[in-house]
Amino acid sequence: MERTLSIIKPDGVKKNVIGEVIKRFEANGLRIAAIKKIHMTKAQAEGFYAVHRARPFFGSLTEFMSEGPVVTIVLEGNNAIAKNRELMGATNPKDAAAGTIRKDFAADIERNVVHGSDGPETAAFEISYFFNALEIF
Ligand code: CMP
Repeated sequence: MERTLSIIKPDGVKKNVIGEVIKRFEANGLRIAAIKKIHMTKAQAEGFYAVHRARPFFGSLTEFMSEGPVVTIVLEGNNAIAKNRELMGATNPKDAAAGTIRKDFAADIERNVVHGSDGPETAAFEISYFFNALEIF
């Protein structure tokens, strides 16, 4: 059993595809262990994406991630990190495989509908950024 963090980003929430995204997780063996809708401040988005601080897109990314509410989800299942990344598709929707969340719903490399942890250490940090132990079942 493994846990990973998923975020349905502000563009996904605006497109009203929260249920569609969750349906894909559940249909593919991932369980919702925790979920909440929040609206991050820019500073909170900067803290979450601190690893990307030096990237040229950091300002734009954190502006986008704080422009409206997001849905944060702890997913649990066998190989949850890799499974979630497979369901999301490539970061840039132009490169994403057919049938993936980003191919179906994302506009571009930044407004790409979902985020998913990229490894076990990142998952642990990202889950603890939004949830405490009493909120995860
Ligand atoms: P995510 O999986 O949340 O991880 C970092 C995010 O930065 C990524 O999805 C995109 O939303 C964004 N991102 C990555 N690369 C670029 C880029 N070249 N230009 C703009 N945004 C990017």
